[in-house]
Amino acid sequence: MTPRWVLLLAAIGVIFLNAIVFAVFWPAPAPPPDASPAQRLYLARCATCHGVRGNGSWRATLFLIRPGNLSDPRRMQALSDQYLFDITKNGGAPIGRPGMPAFGFHLSDAEIRDLARYLRTLASP
Ligand code: HEC
Repeated sequence: MTPRWVLLLAAIGVIFLNAIVFAVFWPAPAPPPDASPAQRLYLARCATCHGVRGNGSWRATLFLIRPGNLSDPRRMQALSDQYLFDITKNGGAPIGRPGMPAFGFHLSDAEIRDLARYLRTLASP
């Protein structure tokens, strides 16, 4: 007969896998009807980790991802437009911050600039 602890481990494994599948396939938040193109991009591509308001998502927390706080005015004021552009286009890896993925293959430069402008609005008081 299978020992109990094996069954228990299997049950924990199933619950854990379910949690991951659930978190990965949870749909991105729907944009409001009057959303700008940049806001739509943000909600579709960034909110998964950074949260709808920029202060981090529950999914990021679940996976122990620490995406920083894009809604903190003091932090965001210290970051240049060029930095926001570069880290979105090339990801964090080139500057030793590998948690942030690169979007240069998915988004045009114009879209990334537009997104950077949108990020500023998240941090306005
Ligand atoms: C897979 C999760 C994930 C997604 C999706 C994601 N980010 Fe990030 N982002 C991170 C993490 C993690 C960091 C922090 C990296 C570090 O500090 O090591 C980060 C950092 C940043 C920073 C720098 C913040 C700072 O304080 O220096 C900016 C700006 C940023 N992300 C913008 C975006 C934009 C714009 C998008 C959508 C196009 C996006 N991110 C999508 C995970 C993500």
